[in-house]
Amino acid sequence: MGENSFGTSKTHQKSLDSVPASKEADGLKLEGIPAFNRERFLQRFNEFSRIGQDQSGAINRPFGSEAEKEARGWITAMAQEAGFTVTVDAIGNMWGGLAGQHEWPAIAIGSHHDSVPDGGRFDGPLGVLMGIEVLQSLREAGYENRHPFTFVSFTAEEPNPFELSTMGSRTISGRLSQEKLLAAKDWQGRPLADAVAEVGGNLQQVPQARKTAEDIAAFIELHIEQGRRLEKRGIPIGVVSGICGIYRELITVTGEANHAGTTEFPDRRDALLATSEMLLALEQKIGSLNNSSLAATVGRLNVVPNAMNIIPGSCSWSLELRSGDMDAVYALRDDLLPSFEAIASRRQVSISREVLLNQQPEPMHEQVISTLQTMADELEIPYAPLASMAGHDATHVASFTKAGMLFVPSIHGKSHCKEEESRMEDIERAFYVLAAAVRHLDTALAGGRKLQ
Ligand code: GLV
Ligand code: MN
Ligand code: MN
Repeated sequence: MGENSFGTSKTHQKSLDSVPASKEADGLKLEGIPAFNRERFLQRFNEFSRIGQDQSGAINRPFGSEAEKEARGWITAMAQEAGFTVTVDAIGNMWGGLAGQHEWPAIAIGSHHDSVPDGGRFDGPLGVLMGIEVLQSLREAGYENRHPFTFVSFTAEEPNPFELSTMGSRTISGRLSQEKLLAAKDWQGRPLADAVAEVGGNLQQVPQARKTAEDIAAFIELHIEQGRRLEKRGIPIGVVSGICGIYRELITVTGEANHAGTTEFPDRRDALLATSEMLLALEQKIGSLNNSSLAATVGRLNVVPNAMNIIPGSCSWSLELRSGDMDAVYALRDDLLPSFEAIASRRQVSISREVLLNQQPEPMHEQVISTLQTMADELEIPYAPLASMAGHDATHVASFTKAGMLFVPSIHGKSHCKEEESRMEDIERAFYVLAAAVRHLDTALAGGRKLQ
């Protein structure tokens, strides 16, 4: 991956307060920007982190789970305590914030509260809790916002049993149709409509959840980097230039289940062995391309019947390809298919494929990027422009309004695992950049009349 852009214009129980804030972070002040309320933020972050956390420290908070519902209740109660009313839209996204002096489009900050299986504490909640923190702090400092200021926690950003990730942000962007949502079921056949209704949404009202630039003038998502580029360079803030495209297929290899002892090798049609050979072919192909901006992962495998004494009859697996350059993604996919077919034919198994996601790369908006950079400069916080190889809700929000993202370093680049960790002093810097950026945009956007 190009480090900075995609070539377009886009048993870990440690609590966060064990990391002291640096002196430098203590000195970060801009005229009119309130001081970061570190204790409050930490107390909330640590409390929220316990929702869905197991003994090992891993978080399991997938959309539709009890933990995810508990997280929603917690956010609602916390926001109410902070003086905000939370509303839930048709897809279950949670919104709240401050009315503005004018009925202009809002300036929004947020992220998501769900997690991957056995995930970490930061991916998602950092951006949600910081959105609330920034708004609360600006209000407490007496800032009189002209635009409405809004925080949002999106529904189902991560993959989930309904096979629809970034569900909330795609829905408000008009990128996920009501028809598709109404047809979606989880692995047990439970309709998505039921799961959405349980969190206060209503799929019948999906058209009303649609947002445009008339509703949201600008959106900023704070997130952990999830890689090591910032840490390696000792830079505390990343300003995201663009977000990679993601292509996902569910591939099913069908062979024949049979007895593990009595079936001689030439007679076997083993779906797992065929899959294994395909995965090694994939590894070899991607290795030969030597393209660090192209990622390929098979992260899910479902072997049927998955029994010790039965030859696997079928094997379904996810193929995920990512890049800032979708031509490279499609070229790799098209290159792989003939080798998969050849393996299938030699092993007498069949393959079927279903495209689950074909999400294009998205540049972040120039004005939001330059605002974040200017605010970091004014605060004398070093930053690096970075392209994101992780997917985010901001990808979809960027399709209808000015969107940008801020990254804080991930310690040892760990993410989507319980070791996920970021430093308090970097988070504190991000608070100041965000608060300054929101305030700046409140003036610069002037009610949406000066859109570039
Ligand atoms: C989102 O978490 C992703 O898969 O990058
Ligand atoms: Mn994630
Ligand atoms: Mn995330």
